[in-house]
Amino acid sequence: MSKKLIAYFSRKGNNYVNGSIKNLSIGNTEVAAKIIQEITGADMFYIEPVIEYDADYNVCIEEAQRDKRSNARPEFKNALKDITDYDTIYLGYPNYWGTMPMHVWTFLEKYDFSGKTIKPFCTHEGSGMGNSERDIQKLCPGAKVEKGIAIHGADVNRAKSTIEKWV
Ligand SMILES: Cc1cc2nc3c(=O)[nH]c(=O)nc-3n(C[C@H](O)[C@H](O)[C@H](O)COP(=O)(O)O)c2cc1C
Repeated sequence: MSKKLIAYFSRKGNNYVNGSIKNLSIGNTEVAAKIIQEITGADMFYIEPVIEYDADYNVCIEEAQRDKRSNARPEFKNALKDITDYDTIYLGYPNYWGTMPMHVWTFLEKYDFSGKTIKPFCTHEGSGMGNSERDIQKLCPGAKVEKGIAIHGADVNRAKSTIEKWV
């Protein structure tokens, strides 16, 4: 049976939005993931960190930068039971320094995506998809990685029609 999954990383708390720090009660990527869920009815999986990055923006920047520099594979909670039934994976993440947060790297290495289609969606503050599509293809050589959609974080609540077209 053909099934679709939305797997995403997102962080609520203080974030940099249009040049100033704002407190987000729901992360931008989670907003996009919920829109995709409304459109597709797909299952959802939150790549939830075992140790959350700090809600304070500047502390988060330091923590996430440390993980990227050390090429870390930080763990996430609640493993997916089975990925074999899914043929399409909508993969969502914020752009962190031109690529995905390292938890998403952990997620992509943990399962076998061979023969599956990955549709990346990313929220960002100016860098678009960055290198993330290439990084996904390197991590999942057997998957078909489709062209992703980059949504400016501050505009995510107005992005439904753009997302609908992409889906
Ligand atoms: C640690 C960190 C690094 C970031 N690096 C970038 C970046 O390189 N380019 C960019 O456009 N936005 C960057 N951003 C902004 C986020 O990608 C953007 O705010 C995104 O919408 C946050 O999604 P979320 O609320 O789902 O976590 C960064 C944000 C954080 C916290």
